[in-house]
Amino acid sequence: MSEVVSWLDTIGRVFEGIPDLATPDQVESALSEILDDPGLTLYWWDWELERYVDVRGVTAEPAAGAGGAVTWVGYETRKIGALAHDARLLDVPEFTATLIPLMRIAMERDRLHRDLVSKLDQLRASRLRILETADGERRRLERNLHDGAQQRLTAALLGLRTLEGRLSEDPELVAMARGALEELEGAIDELRELARGLHPPLLAQRGLEAALRAGAARAAIPVEVDLRLPRRLPEALEAAAYYVCSEACTNAVKHARASGLWLTVADEENALTVVVRDDGIGGACIECQEEASGLGGLVDRVEALGGTLAIVSPDGGGTTLTAVFPLEPEPGL
Ligand SMILES: Nc1ncnc2c1ncn2[C@@H]1O[C@H](COP(=O)(O)OP(=O)(O)O)[C@@H](O)[C@H]1O
Ligand SMILES: [Mg+2]
Repeated sequence: MSEVVSWLDTIGRVFEGIPDLATPDQVESALSEILDDPGLTLYWWDWELERYVDVRGVTAEPAAGAGGAVTWVGYETRKIGALAHDARLLDVPEFTATLIPLMRIAMERDRLHRDLVSKLDQLRASRLRILETADGERRRLERNLHDGAQQRLTAALLGLRTLEGRLSEDPELVAMARGALEELEGAIDELRELARGLHPPLLAQRGLEAALRAGAARAAIPVEVDLRLPRRLPEALEAAAYYVCSEACTNAVKHARASGLWLTVADEENALTVVVRDDGIGGACIECQEEASGLGGLVDRVEALGGTLAIVSPDGGGTTLTAVFPLEPEPGL
């Protein structure tokens, strides 16, 4: 009994002595010390390389030294690791019956945890890359539309106006020219709106505050703005905040029957907080839409930057979108 108690005590110390997320070499030296086996060597099975690696991550086939043995850690169908140790440990029944099964759980849990964290990091980075690529493409399209089609149509408009001025004798021709002019003006307006929706040039040139004020002035319903933006922020962040506001505004006009929109954007306390509220019918919903939707796209955009988007929209109670983006503390503060 006393031997069992002492073994349980040893096993307890093995696991107690290993800190959470210990590095492999910390685990190895803790085991070696507690089991009083200076030559103890720990190996992990690398599931991508399909080979054993030592605590430094270097490929190494587990091998027993003189007077040593190798104990495999794993399940019948799955390798997890191995331990090269003093063969005398095999004389202690608790070593194989208790310690090794516990190590199996601990080593696998550790491996899963590390794998999950690194996969999440990769996922975050790839979301951000996709977003940046899409934004670059939108900016390029906006510039092409602005510098190409829009300029040429505007030149055609000026030509047509001059022509119209010289047609004063024939009322029928004047009416035709006027009709064509109106069409052309409408097309130029639509093109301008389209280009602006892709990526407002003001945003890159003069920043979030200027772009939001211009957007609010243009909106189809009154927009009250409260902006606390003391500095320029990274491009992707300004774009995300802008798109939250413009989608909220489009939705308020399109779906909400709102009489107004209230917009607060504040760069304060290491966060950029965007709150957009309308006083419409409520009932906005991300999951209700099967295809890619405005609000769903916003969630992706905000989360790719590490932020959160919350929507509160009770029936009859208006809609509030709140986006919060974490910011690095300002240097020197
Ligand atoms: N401000 C709002 N007020 C009321 N309903 C809204 C509002 N915003 C969105 N909705 C509802 O939620 C749905 C999803 O919105 P959204 O994802 O922007 O898609 P879309 O605008 O393309 O229809 C809308 O179709 C609409 O029914
Ligand atoms: Mg929408």
